[in-house]
Amino acid sequence: MGVGRLIADPNFETAEYAILVTDAYQNRGLGGVSPTTASTWPEVGARRVVAETTSDNVRMLALFAKQGFDVATDEHGTVKVSKDLNPS
Ligand SMILES: CC(C)(COP(=O)(O)OP(=O)(O)OC[C@H]1O[C@@H](n2cnc3c(N)ncnc32)[C@H](O)[C@@H]1OP(=O)(O)O)[C@@H](O)C(=O)NCCC(=O)NCCS
Repeated sequence: MGVGRLIADPNFETAEYAILVTDAYQNRGLGGVSPTTASTWPEVGARRVVAETTSDNVRMLALFAKQGFDVATDEHGTVKVSKDLNPS
């Protein structure tokens, strides 16, 4: 039905988050219950999670907001988000 991934760099400074729900299953709440939701991120051990999307992707932006990302939009309309996990 979809795939989520969190890929850390070799030093575990930053992990890039991406999710895709197949068209037939979109807008049914799956994006918020993906196995790669925020509750699992500390297990990866990265200091920070980052992701990108476009400014018209309202469902993804809603999920980023719900998961507590800091959001910045560049001059091309690309939304870049980050969340500090502060692992101990
Ligand atoms: C973006 C994507 C992952 C969202 O997954 P989804 O299962 O379709 O989304 P959901 O049904 O979980 O909805 C996500 C949120 O958007 C909200 N939402 C839905 N329609 C909305 C609208 N028109 N305006 C604002 N928010 C809206 C929902 O209420 C939900 O928030 P909630 O969990 O707080 O209720 C999915 O649409 C997708 O795979 N898109 C293509 C790939 C992509 O863009 N990936 C993102 C790059 S990282």
